[in-house]
Amino acid sequence: MLILGIETSCDDTSAAVVEEGTLVRSSVVSSQDEIHGLYGGIVPELASRRHIEMIAPVVGEALDRAGVTLDGIDGIGVTVGPGLVGSLLIGLSFAKAVGYAKAIPFVGVNHIMAHPLAAFLTSGSEDPLVGPEFPLLALVVSGGHTSLILYEGFNTARVVGCTRDDAAGEAFDKVAKLLGLGYPGGAVIDRLAREGDAKAVPFKRTYLERGNLEFSFSGIKTAVLQHLKKLERKPTEDEIKDIAASFQEAVVDVLVRKVQWGAEETGVNTIVAAGGVACNSRLRERLSVMAGVEGFKLFIPPPAFCSDNAAMVALSAFHTLREGNEGLSLNANPNLEI
Ligand code: KG4
Ligand code: ZN
Repeated sequence: MLILGIETSCDDTSAAVVEEGTLVRSSVVSSQDEIHGLYGGIVPELASRRHIEMIAPVVGEALDRAGVTLDGIDGIGVTVGPGLVGSLLIGLSFAKAVGYAKAIPFVGVNHIMAHPLAAFLTSGSEDPLVGPEFPLLALVVSGGHTSLILYEGFNTARVVGCTRDDAAGEAFDKVAKLLGLGYPGGAVIDRLAREGDAKAVPFKRTYLERGNLEFSFSGIKTAVLQHLKKLERKPTEDEIKDIAASFQEAVVDVLVRKVQWGAEETGVNTIVAAGGVACNSRLRERLSVMAGVEGFKLFIPPPAFCSDNAAMVALSAFHTLREGNEGLSLNANPNLEI
């Protein structure tokens, strides 16, 4: 079964073709970073307009690279939320139009619930026997969400913890902005932090009470702001690196600890991390050390499938269609607003 995935929830126009729910035949992502970078954050109206321009060429390229036409596509998976309404509308309208014109079934997919499923994608060269198994606990760390989700199967998942305020990615982006590092800032902080001293500034870790699986990252953002104010001058390049490293370490400490608590509480020993922040090199390293010590099996997709992509959407839709479900029922989740 060949599924065409379409994802336009935020500022990337993405399309992918996935075979049998796992083999990525093609994955195309058209980024809008250059457009929104000028404004220090995403401008929803500009995002929608760019999606309109890019959706047809991106889908066309995904089909070309996969060596198929729409006539060879058995189903379409499209992100229906959460995300920017105007952006979502472009992908969804396109998928509906194509599905209607070509009589291809289409499935609405919850983007956040799809992120961890990227751990099941393969390029064909990996050993299929070493993929994750259910039940698994997923840490989803994207620009707008930070959640711990327990998956019993592809179509059975439950949120066991989410953020009370800012998401981890949001904190990375806002702190990067405070440090004058541009948008989106996560990857820049990651790079600068490698040259900084993570112990330079003792930013408070917000664990809430022991065992609590919720997150809170708004405090650390304010702490960085206060630290910069106290300096009463522009930070030097070395100070910026130290602040970046100290901030990143504080966020990673919390994420890793919560994953560990989450695994203990749910009794699950397979862990997946996904979403854009899972590209973070320090988070990947620390999760891997923790998993090694605790005896957990850890799966983190390669960076291209941690950040927004349509292959995870196609994979999710494949399992919905295969199980005879329809549309949104699979990913309906009261904790995630669409
Ligand atoms: O999942 P994603 O690509 O899009 C959303 O669904 O939001 O996540 C984007 C987020 C942004 O906040 C970006 O700064 C962050 O992922 N990010 C990173 C890194 N690469 C991307 N954060 C920390 N370290 C990185 N290397
Ligand atoms: Zn995402």
